[in-house]
Amino acid sequence: MVNEAAARPRDPFANKVLEQADIMRDQVARHLERARLAARLTVVGSITDVAPVVTALARTMEKIHHDRGVAIEVHADVEARFRGERPDLEEMIGNLVDNACKWASARVAIDVVRERPDPSRAGQVLRIVVDDDGRGLSPSEREQVAHRGRRLDETKPGSGLGLSIVVELAGLYGGELKLGTAPLGGLRAELVLPGA
Ligand SMILES: Nc1ncnc2c1ncn2[C@@H]1O[C@H](COP(=O)(O)OP(=O)(O)OP(=O)(O)O)[C@@H](O)[C@H]1O
Ligand SMILES: [Mg+2]
Repeated sequence: MVNEAAARPRDPFANKVLEQADIMRDQVARHLERARLAARLTVVGSITDVAPVVTALARTMEKIHHDRGVAIEVHADVEARFRGERPDLEEMIGNLVDNACKWASARVAIDVVRERPDPSRAGQVLRIVVDDDGRGLSPSEREQVAHRGRRLDETKPGSGLGLSIVVELAGLYGGELKLGTAPLGGLRAELVLPGA
């Protein structure tokens, strides 16, 4: 069907078929990726030290965004541990710090704290806060940006996938991403994840 549709480039119906086939392919790929991640999470019980990951990422991001002269300040509890895989933690924090650097005026602050165990959750809770001093986002903008491909500021490069990946990964670990306003004036992105 896709081949037939592709052979009729000027037929609007054929174009619709191609468009729908693209969306289906995308959805299948997403479901497979989700299944792959979910399966892995139940098998591997790894624990990752958070402070070294955050410190290394901050230094890397400072270099990547060197031309903008953004300073990244890190306060990380050295005892903080993530109940999950290191690459997933790097992916989540990396996306948030990359955004903070892209939209900051001059400052980014990262805080890693362990919460008192919440009786409604099993085990420790880990909180990773990424603040910047940029223009931030209004409550309605915050609602929009966590969706795949949604970008509000086209003046900076990006595909608009970063935050949706963070939301999805955090969700797979039973955690969440919250967006708010930072004391520095810009966006506050707060990751709540299972600790160890
Ligand atoms: N720290 C921030 N300050 C202001 N706006 C932000 C911030 N972080 C994200 N946004 C807004 O949310 C949108 C979505 O962010 P997201 O990380 O998903 O995409 P991106 O950074 O544009 O692209 P990508 O992450 O795929 O390179 C951004 O385009 C921007 O409009
Ligand atoms: Mg991004």
